[in-house]
Formats: sequence, structure tokens, C-alpha cells
Amino acid sequence: MTALNPAAEDDRFSFTPFTRHPFFTHVNRWILERVICPGRQVIVDLGCGPGAVTQLILERVGGAQPPPRVIGIDPSPTAIEKARAAISSKFAEFVQGSAEWLSKLVKSADTVVFLNAIHLTRDKTSVLREIRRVLKPGGLLAFNSTFFNGAYVEGTSGFWRRWIVRSVQALREKGIDVQHNGHAAAMEWLTAEQYGEACKAAGLQPTTIELLRINMTAQSLADIGRFSLFIEGALPGVPLEEGSEALQTGLARTLDELKMNEVPRYWLEVVAEAV
Ligand SMILES: C[S@@+](CC[C@H](N)C(=O)[O-])C[C@H]1O[C@@H](n2cnc3c(N)ncnc32)[C@H](O)[C@@H]1O
Repeated sequence: MTALNPAAEDDRFSFTPFTRHPFFTHVNRWILERVICPGRQVIVDLGCGPGAVTQLILERVGGAQPPPRVIGIDPSPTAIEKARAAISSKFAEFVQGSAEWLSKLVKSADTVVFLNAIHLTRDKTSVLREIRRVLKPGGLLAFNSTFFNGAYVEGTSGFWRRWIVRSVQALREKGIDVQHNGHAAAMEWLTAEQYGEACKAAGLQPTTIELLRINMTAQSLADIGRFSLFIEGALPGVPLEEGSEALQTGLARTLDELKMNEVPRYWLEVVAEAV
């Protein structure tokens, strides 16, 4: 399970500012439209964070009779608290917990959505098996992520590499040394094909595996650079305050050097059916 850094509980390092960018709503709505449909009575929003996706689910099911039960689950107590404060629907409930022991939290579900979070789990096949355990036969899993092998649009990998190099330089200028050797273990990136294979190994038949191309604006890059889990993945071991500041400096330098003001990137979107 994800270790929770006390500083990550700080509002300054929240995911919420990033969720307000229109492309983020687009990549989430796109997949929710494929799995939230009439008759699905128990919907799990796994890794719900502060509730941006839960909100979209509730919008989509608004008025359905009988109303479905929407269960948001996240390991972060602060995220759960924020989601509860932001969402007042009597059909939504929030539970603290992790994907790794989902079947201990929920008995059975028609749909599980796990958006922008699966890359944070260490053993993806065993998490997918755990999700399969709670899905009814014919039940649907949807997940998406932009942290996968294949996320970089051709010609842009230099941007992402340079952002980290410039951020590490900014830290060194402040006397902070950092070991930079790729993604943290929990952030191991799979390819789209590997995700498809992992689904099959878990008893889930992929019906959709697609890439959506979006443009990340400079402001959205700055916002993701202030999110605790992104900082921990990009600059492992660096305190959040210093990491966030260095990522902002590194981003400004990189955009300036490459004369860019937005960067295209792919989102992986997967739907799989419990067989
Ligand atoms: C980037 S946020 C995404 C939040 C929300 N799904 C969205 O798309 O707006 C990732 C969330 O995954 C949660 N998370 C991390 N590890 C997890 C795990 N093992 N099981 C479930 N959720 C996890 C984090 O606490 C965080 O709130």
C-alpha cells in the first residue's frame, strides 16, 4: 500500500487543481460513458482521491431509478475527508482502504472504476485479481492512466527528461543532492499490451484498449508538479516542499529552452469484462 507522507496531507500538494483542467474531465468522462449505464446498481470508485471522478459518476447516474450506490475508496484519510466534504449525495459513501484488499471492503459490484491510480500499485496483476473477485459475472472494470510505457507522444520524450534534469539541477543549486534513477518502484510503468495481458491473467477480458491524445497546458503541468504523488514519483526521496519548488523551476526553464507552451501526451483507457 502507498506510504502516506504527512506533508502529503497538506492542501498545497493536493490533486484537486489538476482535476479542474478540461482535458482531465474529457479523459475520465470518455471512459465513464462506456461503463456507467442503467442497471448497474453498485459502482465502486477505487482510488477516488478528493472525489473528482465520483462527482462525474454521480452526474452520469443522476435521476436513475432505483438510484445506484456509489462507493468511493482511497487509502488517504485526507482525500476521503475532502471527498466527503465536497460531495453531499445520499447515494455516495466513502471508505478508507486500498485496492489490494478491495474484497474485504466491498462484497460485490457491477462496475469498478480505477481512474488515474492503477500505476500507483505495486503488483498490478494481484490488484486486478482482487477487483475480479468483487465483480459480478459480466461486471465491468474501467481504468485509465497517463503513467504507462507509451504515454509520450513521438518527439516529446526530451521534454519530460529535461524537466527532471532541470529540476534535479535546481535542487543541487540549493545544496540538495538527489539520486535520480528512473521511476520509483511503485510507479513501474506497464505498456498497453502488458495491461491487457494482466487483465486476462486476472479473469478480465479487455473490450477496449485505446489511447487518447490530449495537450497538457503549462498551467496543468505546473499543477501536476505540485501534487504529492507526482513529486514522490519524479523526485524520489526529496521532501515535498523542496521537490515542488524544484519542479516549478525545472518546468519554467524547460518550457523556455524548448520554446513550448503545451505538451501532447497519451492517456491509456481500458475497459475489461469479468468472465
Ligand atoms: C492521481 S489520484 C486520482 C484520483 C481520482 N481517481 C481522479 O482521477 O481524480 C490517485 C489516487 O489513488 C490513490 N491510491 C494510491 N494507491 C492506491 C491503492 N493501492 N489503492 C487504491 N487507491 C490508491 C491515492 O491515494 C490517490 O488519491
